Amino acid sequence: MEKPERVFDRDREWDGLTRFATSTSPDVRLGIVGGRRRQGKTYLLDALVEVVGGFFFTATEATEMEALERFGRAVAKYAGGGRYAFRDWEEALDRLFAVVGDGLIVIDEFPYLNKATPALPSLIQRALDPRGAARQAGSRLLLCGSAMSVMGGLLSGNAPLRGRASLELVVEPLEYRAAAQFWGIDDPRLAVLVHSTVGGTPAYRREFVAGDAPDSLADFDSWVCRTVLNPQTPLFREARYLLAEETEIRDIALYHAVLGAIAAGNCTRGGIAGAIGRASTDMAHPLAVLEDSRLIVRETDPFTRGKPLYRIAEPLIVFYEAIMRRHWTPLERGHQEAAWIGSRAGFLAQVVGPHFEGICRDWAMSAGAGVFGELPSRVAAATVKDPQRKTQIQIDVAVLAPEEPGRPRRILSLGEAKWDRTMTPGHLDRLRRARELLSNKGYDTSGTILACYSGAGFDRNLRAADDVLLVDLATLYER
Ligand SMILES: Nc1ncnc2c1ncn2[C@@H]1O[C@H](COP(=O)(O)OP(=O)(O)O)[C@@H](O)[C@H]1O
Ligand SMILES: [Mg+2]
Repeated sequence: MEKPERVFDRDREWDGLTRFATSTSPDVRLGIVGGRRRQGKTYLLDALVEVVGGFFFTATEATEMEALERFGRAVAKYAGGGRYAFRDWEEALDRLFAVVGDGLIVIDEFPYLNKATPALPSLIQRALDPRGAARQAGSRLLLCGSAMSVMGGLLSGNAPLRGRASLELVVEPLEYRAAAQFWGIDDPRLAVLVHSTVGGTPAYRREFVAGDAPDSLADFDSWVCRTVLNPQTPLFREARYLLAEETEIRDIALYHAVLGAIAAGNCTRGGIAGAIGRASTDMAHPLAVLEDSRLIVRETDPFTRGKPLYRIAEPLIVFYEAIMRRHWTPLERGHQEAAWIGSRAGFLAQVVGPHFEGICRDWAMSAGAGVFGELPSRVAAATVKDPQRKTQIQIDVAVLAPEEPGRPRRILSLGEAKWDRTMTPGHLDRLRRARELLSNKGYDTSGTILACYSGAGFDRNLRAADDVLLVDLATLYER
């Protein structure tokens, strides 16, 4: 089951899909494929059906009647001609399973069908029962969709399909190194800048910029002006669409305000509420919706029990909130260069700086056992309180070993990341102090490796230190 050449990366996803599609086990009947828009779900499923064969239906926004009409035509075409006029979905499904037999069925954009016909999951559940039509026929059914609220809901709580799926695949954005390769970028500095702007969404490399990738570091500013800041490219409005497309979001302005506050560096619920002048309790719903739709992630500090911290998961949204929203009118009028020059400081402080820390965490999480002594179980940003000096130390990359009952938690590494500053022994001293404080708090720091990550290098004195791991851009992008 060879993956077609045009499909970049996605080997794990491909394995899971082909194993599902070719399984002969009677228990393998239903698979769910989710993930935000434009990550390549349809692209993968299309390739799968090309290789394995099967029935592929893409739903659209339509009434139940229209949907049945289209579905009837699609099933008839697959069956080799004629015309099916289905009365209802029960009949449609029965016929579908009969026609496809022990083959593969892919229904893309399933949330549209579900919206018009809320009973559809129960009907499918019945078909999947031991005496149901799907079981009898031996069909395997893949439901795919982007609306995370719907796809996640299909298998949760007491939803009819809960416990039925033997494959649950979430197609995520490409990892930062894969993204650089997909963009054809060899220069790690340029790769960080591009990833800070458009992240790892495959479509943003293709249709959304008409294939325009920066060809050198010197081309980056011009590329930003040609693409993401250019009202003539689809990328320009994409951050707004991402929000608008998530079905549950109605009060778009509030959601942008929340994202804007997070992009500006407010990451607690109270901080976000304060920044936009609302009560902290009003934040619970929008934050939950944004988290469900995978536009933000909620994290906790491994060393300080306390409030959850929120981070924006999609770089393009950070870029939009920190840069574009502020300059929207001049941008729409075509004043890209002026807006971009006025955004330099913001781009560095709010976009690339924090994003670089995230890349360093991703690197640490994927590090082999040789780097920190064993495989990390968790990597997070953290703060360490220093009561004597009445201050706190920010740890950009805290790497922890798995929890072991009855033993103090082992810290594999404490690291600081700086995108644009040459790092010095001063940075290392702070990490040493943090290690001492954590050791006093009862953590096992006997094997803790102190690490400095820099996009601008390390000074001579720091390079001479023998108790520090230095991670530069080349190391971050080594494969
Ligand atoms: N693995 C991939 N290799 C090459 N291009 C991809 C890949 N995944 C996505 N793309 C590009 O991204 C575009 C959008 O993907 P699509 O499958 O429509 O996303 P989704 O269905 O998740 O919304 C595709 O048309 C293609 O150009
Ligand atoms: Mg799609």
